[in-house]
Amino acid sequence: MKAMGSIFLILGVAGLALAAEPAHKHAPSPEMRRQHDSMTVTKKQWTALKKSLAAGDFSAAGASLARVQKAVGALEKFKLHKNEDRVEEFREQSRAYGENLAELGGALKEKDKARAEGLSKTIDHGCLQCHQTFR
Ligand code: HEC
Repeated sequence: MKAMGSIFLILGVAGLALAAEPAHKHAPSPEMRRQHDSMTVTKKQWTALKKSLAAGDFSAAGASLARVQKAVGALEKFKLHKNEDRVEEFREQSRAYGENLAELGGALKEKDKARAEGLSKTIDHGCLQCHQTFR
């Protein structure tokens, strides 16, 4: 009777461990969370920026840009799931993206709508280009 109890106990523990495994595997690491969060913020603020720019609200566009730029830092620590071997290319694209954002900052300060819109198209292309290879 005592032995039976132990066996059930062992089976029970093993079952719990098995049940816990998939949940554990799919729980994102803090790094992965940060990675997703940085892109979620980017998407939200980038959309807001383009709306503000279209409305000619340079100060709101600048505030959104600052948040997009803050999220660029996270790109340096990205763990790639796709084309991991092309990390040099990823760094190059991240760098170009950062530079274009900085240029956009200048155009917003000068309230140069045409230049800001041109740069925003270039940046849109940068999002797509990087996603095509690395997302
Ligand atoms: C230099 C590369 C690079 C650039 C530039 C880039 N992204 Fe991403 N983005 C990624 C990668 C890699 C992922 C996938 C992240 C993952 O799965 O962990 C991603 C994921 C996303 C996601 C999905 C969110 C998630 O949970 O992962 C959104 C939305 C997104 N990006 C929006 C944007 C927007 C908008 C821009 C431009 C303003 C942009 N990204 C620029 C590399 C980039």
